[in-house]
Amino acid sequence: MQDTTPFPYAAGFRSLTEETPSPVALAVRGEIPHWLEGALLRTGPAKFEVGLRTYNHWFDGLAMLHRFAFARGAVTYASRFLESNAYRAAEATRKIAYAEFATDPCRTLFGRVAAIFDPKLTDNANVNVVGLGGATAAFTETTMPLRFQPGTLKTLGVFAYEAPLSGQVSTAHPHYDAARKRHYNYMIEFGLRSRYRLFSVSDGGVQDEIAEIPVDRPAYMHSFAMTERYLVLVEFPLTVSALDLKFSGKPFIRNYRWQPERGLRFHVVEKDGGREVATAAGEALFAFHHVNAYEEGDGLVIDMIAYPDAAIIDQLYLARLRAGTPLTATGRLNRFEFGLGGGGVSRRELAPIAIELPRINYASRAGKSYRYVYGAGIEVEGDFLDSIVKVDLASGGSARWYERGCYPGEPVFVATPEARAEDDGVLLSVVLDVGSGHSFLLVLDAATLNEMARAETPHAIPFHFHGNYFPGRSPTA
Ligand code: CO
Repeated sequence: MQDTTPFPYAAGFRSLTEETPSPVALAVRGEIPHWLEGALLRTGPAKFEVGLRTYNHWFDGLAMLHRFAFARGAVTYASRFLESNAYRAAEATRKIAYAEFATDPCRTLFGRVAAIFDPKLTDNANVNVVGLGGATAAFTETTMPLRFQPGTLKTLGVFAYEAPLSGQVSTAHPHYDAARKRHYNYMIEFGLRSRYRLFSVSDGGVQDEIAEIPVDRPAYMHSFAMTERYLVLVEFPLTVSALDLKFSGKPFIRNYRWQPERGLRFHVVEKDGGREVATAAGEALFAFHHVNAYEEGDGLVIDMIAYPDAAIIDQLYLARLRAGTPLTATGRLNRFEFGLGGGGVSRRELAPIAIELPRINYASRAGKSYRYVYGAGIEVEGDFLDSIVKVDLASGGSARWYERGCYPGEPVFVATPEARAEDDGVLLSVVLDVGSGHSFLLVLDAATLNEMARAETPHAIPFHFHGNYFPGRSPTA
């Protein structure tokens, strides 16, 4: 008989309503390296109830910003709700006023036309924090990043692109090419003729279109791949009709259909010039996260965390998670390879482990051949992400950090100032300890996954998605 005892991970899906606007010093157990001087800035859903309603899905919750600031071996913690229009309206009216991933607003406020075509696109930027055009911005999957002040976490407003392109849906995972000094991303413009629009953003915030790819049924793509010369969109067969999106009356993601017969479609586009140099087709799979990609000979290597289908989205509805239901959909590190001149796509699994929220040494290896992948893993079958894993792509081996009752988030890699090896640095992860009812910031040696330090926060921090490390003292002005 199957064990139906709920998993204690459910504690990571309770709302956090308490803010910590002034940084508090955290007690450190172990030693935080003194060279670590900067801030880990993260965003994620924190509040799941508005008035009498509860958001439907983990991805819907109102965003809170979290800041861990490091100096001379000490660490402070601060948090504030992102003051998006979605948050302000929810606070003011006690009603859900903006449409999220899987929750629509109260109908009385909203009418019948689907939210994605409404001027009130959500700005509840609960997915990622990125440095963009000299600003620090929180991202969600609409086209409106929100700027905030990295020292105080004060929300400043929508990031104002120069001459913004039109589109409704984008990703919270822009790439950055340090050689070209440009961010890259894509957006979808839904319409009678829908299209993907690849674009770059200069360090000055100017948005430039690179290419448009017409599409009959746009795919749900949470991220994309970048090599030194190319951007690669991988269309998963989870697709939507723009008309359904507009008129169905269902929340955003519920309009998407799994159509495995479409398989995977790869679009390879030159960063410079925008020419689509190749397309390729593969067997049906789903993924949220690309890990890395690079050019090799006349072909491309593209690594992502793949699932057999899109069932993972259904398993992340809040009611299920709050019941501690076992998760059966698990991501695997997969490598796809194909030639730019044509031919088939090959795929293989790179490690026999469950992994999500992948990170690499991005500053030195993005778009290039690389050796190490870090992520959150699953040690106990059916549990939520309960460990930190490291995969050595050269040997196929993996290492892990695991502690019973502890649930780590995305491990962010920070290189040592004089780093020589690719894994010379630390991993920073926010871990929920369900036993103590608190979270802690965990510092691991990225080479060995040995614990260097931990520092407990004043409360539990709900499970969240992504963030980045910003070196140097955060400006407070
Ligand atoms: Co993501």
